[in-house]
Amino acid sequence: MLDVTPRGARIVAGTTAGLTHGLFTLVQLTDPGADPTAARAVPAVHVEDEPRFEHRGVLLDEARYFMGADAVRSLIDQLALHRMNVLHWHLTDDQGWRMEVRAWPRLTEVGARRAGSHEGDWFDESDAIDPTPHEGFYTRDELRSIAAYAAARHVTILPEIDVPGHAVAAIAAYPELGCTGATIEVTPLIAVHEDVLCVCREAVMTMLEEVLDEVIDVFDPPTVHLGGDEVPTTQWEASPECAARMTELGLTDVAALRAYAIERLAGYLADRGRGAVAWEDAETAPLPASIALQQWRSTDADVARLAYEGRAIVRSPAEEYYLNRSLELTPLAEVYATPVIPTSLDAAQATHVVGLEGCLWTPWIRTPTQLQTFAYPRLSAIAELGWSDPDALDYPGFLARMPRMLERWEAAGIEHAGPEALR
Ligand code: ACM
Repeated sequence: MLDVTPRGARIVAGTTAGLTHGLFTLVQLTDPGADPTAARAVPAVHVEDEPRFEHRGVLLDEARYFMGADAVRSLIDQLALHRMNVLHWHLTDDQGWRMEVRAWPRLTEVGARRAGSHEGDWFDESDAIDPTPHEGFYTRDELRSIAAYAAARHVTILPEIDVPGHAVAAIAAYPELGCTGATIEVTPLIAVHEDVLCVCREAVMTMLEEVLDEVIDVFDPPTVHLGGDEVPTTQWEASPECAARMTELGLTDVAALRAYAIERLAGYLADRGRGAVAWEDAETAPLPASIALQQWRSTDADVARLAYEGRAIVRSPAEEYYLNRSLELTPLAEVYATPVIPTSLDAAQATHVVGLEGCLWTPWIRTPTQLQTFAYPRLSAIAELGWSDPDALDYPGFLARMPRMLERWEAAGIEHAGPEALR
């Protein structure tokens, strides 16, 4: 609660995050606007407020393009300003492995660099390769420092180690992680690749547990994202080791190896007091309800089914909340108009939706400046959906407040999509 009267200002909150939000609000009320010489009067207000959802996040993909610590800190600043509290950090994929792992040094010695990058964008399916090498990774100390920076702003890092697919960079570093044993390169190509981790092999699961040990050590995260999206089964089908492992596990469907791997690793995390979340398509066989799922491609009816299982659901429907799509495909108005809780859910199902993420995938976003023009102003819509009750959502009111946000970003040297995005 924030009370401003002629006698002073008072902030009362149940958590330190709430106190910080109250302070931010007070500071914003003194905001002089575009004219810094204007008098700084604070209006008398009484604000009682709380967030609608506990998970109000943004996904940042640095596997495709490494953006660097300054870009990450800037994004964290914006999350805090927007009272958002989760940075979902996608640190590994086919095109790069960005986290130093002491026990497996080649993950970054080899996996953090690729010989070129896929040209093109969402509208250009060309296979042309720009031969400029791309590289970058964070040391454990750098990751710790960014996590501390986030924590000081009440932003929690949700680190993602994407398994068992989207792992070409890891297999390039250690060919024994794949089923074929073939030596491959970190790929520039944006695609769903057939080289996946050979989770049938116990040594591969042990390697992944050792990576998770370091994720826990570096981030001390309440929850780890295990990925689990888009996993072709071709190599598992061809592998005698996988056939033998499936017999041991009593599995008849090779696709179920994906859920098996996610469940094993989630159990490993649970034994260490950490939660797990995976992309919804990780559930190729029933997963324990303790594993949260992040919805990205399913229909509203599927969300109701996920909720029916009683598990926590994070919403990031690709067409509406993927902020890396162009503004033509995903306009600001569409982000704002997409309910976090699909209207098809009943009240009991709705309680399982813990929040939402706006996603910044970077297959075609190459620089921190480009990243900003995709993020802003749509991130503000995600923030408002995460915070406000549906009956308080008001698009004309939101649009009327946005020009001031554009000025704030400009004052902070942050790019945005321009006033023409505000419609
Ligand atoms: C995803 O967009 N592959 C989760």
